[in-house]
Amino acid sequence: MYRTHTNGELRISDVGKEVTLVGWVSKKRNLGSLVFIDLRDRYGYTQVLLNEDFPIANEIRNEYIIQVKGIVSKKEVANPKLATGEIEVVANDVKIVNTAELPPFIIADNTDALEDTRLKYRYLDLRRPVMQNMLINRAKIVRACHSFLDRNDFIEVETPILCLSTPEGARDYIVPSRIRNGSFYALPQSPQLFKQLLMVSGMERYYQVARCFRDEDLRADRQPDFTQIDVETSFLSQEEIMTLGEGLISEIWKEALGMEVKGPFRRLKYDYCIDTYGSDKPDTRFGLEIHDVSEILKASDFEVYKNASTVRAIVVPNIASTTSRKVQDNLDLTAKKFGIGKFGFFKYINGKLESSLLKFINEELQEKLVKELALKENDLVIVGAGYRMRVCPCLGALRTEFGKELKLYDPNTYDFLWVVEFPLFDYNEDTKEITPCHHPFTKPLDRDVHLLEEHPEKVYAAAYDIVINGYEAGGGSLRIFDQKEQSKIFELIGLTEEKIERKFGWFVNALKYGVPPHGGFALGLDRLAMLINKTDNIRDVIAFPKNLSAVCPMSNAPMPVDESQLEELGIEISK
Ligand code: AMO
Repeated sequence: MYRTHTNGELRISDVGKEVTLVGWVSKKRNLGSLVFIDLRDRYGYTQVLLNEDFPIANEIRNEYIIQVKGIVSKKEVANPKLATGEIEVVANDVKIVNTAELPPFIIADNTDALEDTRLKYRYLDLRRPVMQNMLINRAKIVRACHSFLDRNDFIEVETPILCLSTPEGARDYIVPSRIRNGSFYALPQSPQLFKQLLMVSGMERYYQVARCFRDEDLRADRQPDFTQIDVETSFLSQEEIMTLGEGLISEIWKEALGMEVKGPFRRLKYDYCIDTYGSDKPDTRFGLEIHDVSEILKASDFEVYKNASTVRAIVVPNIASTTSRKVQDNLDLTAKKFGIGKFGFFKYINGKLESSLLKFINEELQEKLVKELALKENDLVIVGAGYRMRVCPCLGALRTEFGKELKLYDPNTYDFLWVVEFPLFDYNEDTKEITPCHHPFTKPLDRDVHLLEEHPEKVYAAAYDIVINGYEAGGGSLRIFDQKEQSKIFELIGLTEEKIERKFGWFVNALKYGVPPHGGFALGLDRLAMLINKTDNIRDVIAFPKNLSAVCPMSNAPMPVDESQLEELGIEISK
């Protein structure tokens, strides 16, 4: 038997017991003839005391695994920071179970090791209790999902990993076929088509903890392979599906954090979110809303505003007097990134507006601006002009930055909401092209179907995203269940009949055979784990993640393969 107790288990009530512990040496302190060791396992730390009878103590190093038999004793001075802090185990037998090299960084909650070093030695990084705790919380989320969905009669079904492209808007990862040289599988961006086909099969309620693969630019909340809690149902309305989603979220928060979260969550329309927060995933724990100042500033003599499609502003409190030219230039970098030229800056100081643009704006308009924005002393007004879908997201990005920087919200609270009534298509104002806003299987709102042909850009979708603290934690929609409607959507996004047949013929064909009305959603497990663990780095909640270059620093994947493998696949590398 390796142990009688874990290292997080012994309490004052165990004093006098003979116990056996095993674990990693976290810290060793020599106090003359006495050696104190903090022994660590997944459950915690226990202090072990070795006296001079154990010369082996000299051999023991950090991260060795040792087994200790001994008696639980009361410590003279308790350590209130440890659950086991009132006791120590006085050893009467010690064995080295395994030795260890000096780790490249100290295994402790606080580390200054670079992330790439931590990822290279991820197995050591995951020895840190803080990291283990993140994975334990992640497992609690999955447990809550199983429990809730099983209880609600959902059937877990696995769908293929080697399949054909599922259009979720990202680039596919593709896998060459050996047996059919020149042909490729795609890894699923989500199980979207398969879960819809399971509804055609009459499964009615499906779910899966599904691995998804997307080759897209990585960010702090994106990984190339990630996990969804994927759900689909037949014969439920949008409201019923959203209520189900709320039940699932409540169960997750309860299981993982012991927190009571009650639905219904607020429903905010997409357009309202863009106009007010500059984002379709707003963090509404703080204000700093965007104002439409088009009417006032388009009446000015400033050509940029006069000619702009829209002019919007945010008011940042209490920073006007400390905002230097340099700070403004820095903020302008964000404007540049979003393609809207420079911001206009107005300071409200000593009850008056200050700005290099005042010469273009007459007093009446200035007064209107002050009134409209309800300006207070030391407010800074940042104005952006251009297309709505550039200006609002740009000001939204500033809003998020200022919210964080000025600590305008309590980071320990959660803000749950649904964003509803998404446009069916994204409309590119420059190229006039349309692409599906969600994915091409999303049902248009019944009220808008008549606009599909003439004004597809005005059609809204039966789609909904669940947003938590400014993160898109999940999304879903009702699906098209009519073959003609599906073909129409494909046609509108520019797929030729030949392309539809080749890429989705297998799927569209199924829509002929009595398809039930259906819909569903997918929660991003990794994002939920980020929220539950209060980290803004997705890599913290994934055991073996990729870095921002989509590389695994531990295994060095992806790697070139042997020439013979390429030959078998009929592939030649051209550069
Ligand atoms: P969607 O593309 O919105 O919908 O994805 C659902 C949720 O998955 C998470 N997510 C990601 N998490 C980490 N890294 C990524 N690269 C990544 N991409 C997405 C997000 C997102 O909200 N088939 C549809 C769902 C449906 O309609 O039922 C889908 O995949 O949290």
